[in-house]
Amino acid sequence: MNELIGKTIDGFNFISIIGEGGMAFVYKAYDQKLDRFVAIKVIHPRISHSLISLQRFKKEARNQAKLLHPNIIAVLDLIKISSSVGIVMEYVEGESLSQLLKRCSRLDFAKTKEILRQALAGLNFAHSFGFVHRDIKPSNIIIRKDGVVKIADFGIAKSFSDSRPNSTASNIIGTAFYMSPEQIKGEHLSHHSDIYSIGCTAYEMVTGYPPFYLPNDFKVLQAHIMDVHAPLENWRSDLPQSFISLVNDSLQKQPRDRPKSCEVLIKRLDSIPSLNFYPNYLPQHETKAATRKAKSNYVFLKIILILLTILICFLVVKNVKITHFGKEEPTNKQLNPFSR
Ligand SMILES: Nc1ncnc2c1ncn2[C@@H]1O[C@H](COP(=O)(O)OP(=O)(O)OP(=O)(O)O)[C@@H](O)[C@H]1O
Ligand SMILES: [Mg+2]
Repeated sequence: MNELIGKTIDGFNFISIIGEGGMAFVYKAYDQKLDRFVAIKVIHPRISHSLISLQRFKKEARNQAKLLHPNIIAVLDLIKISSSVGIVMEYVEGESLSQLLKRCSRLDFAKTKEILRQALAGLNFAHSFGFVHRDIKPSNIIIRKDGVVKIADFGIAKSFSDSRPNSTASNIIGTAFYMSPEQIKGEHLSHHSDIYSIGCTAYEMVTGYPPFYLPNDFKVLQAHIMDVHAPLENWRSDLPQSFISLVNDSLQKQPRDRPKSCEVLIKRLDSIPSLNFYPNYLPQHETKAATRKAKSNYVFLKIILILLTILICFLVVKNVKITHFGKEEPTNKQLNPFSR
């Protein structure tokens, strides 16, 4: 895929690779017509070949282009690239939530709330037009350098799953850790499925792990359908109870038992104060305890060092005395050469 770099296709000059996912490479490119940077998602030829209808894919992308919202990455164009297709999108300079989580392992509540709120606003807008994302996960949530959160790949998963024959659990496109039970079962999907996936994402934001972190996809998918996730309280004690309930409600197995809409989730999130939480990615009581422990360790170490120094001094002085009196001190014989 490196062969595209430096090339110009349809007025888009390919500059570098931004990232690679399961079905595409994402490039940074320069739009010569409109003098701006764009991101172009080029679908792997092996996948674009297997699409039943490229036409249907294009139709879906055209639909996505209508979704204009500050928290959704805008689709700008579609271009043909040899045997594949490139989706031209708004370029977002920043990092994905998955990259942020790799860096910080888990986030404090205030940061979680800020990111979640914006992602929910984007989702709510799309849902109000009848769109379902189907692949909400940390790598599809991108945080721009100035803090604006953008949802990527709206509806792209739909194009792929619709294009495959006999949509069954085994060939549904999505990511196991964040898939709703109804998506796994191949049932009809509504916006409730995205609410489940955002619940999984929220869980990972505060714990560092998705709710069912198991060694293989099959076990993960099975757990989404049958198991209950480990309570958030087991992970950390600083989370507000109302936030824990919000995540638990979003992770309900039955779509009808989840919050009715993203708007409801936004209202619930807004009603939780974030003032008492701390920005160092560790709950404050943990930080305080850690500081206290470090301080007492330091004092203990200091005392040991002082004692050791005293002991060494004592031994040195004792040794000098022995040396001085035992070897160097002139004997009576030496003082009195006539003595026998
Ligand atoms: N519009 C964009 N602007 C800037 N970076 C982007 C944009 N779209 C995607 N990226 C980056 O490119 C990376 C790869 O994206 P891609 O959607 O191909 O894969 P993914 O979301 O990680 O996985 P999957 O293939 O399972 O969806 C993302 O993680 C993201 O960091
Ligand atoms: Mg993606």
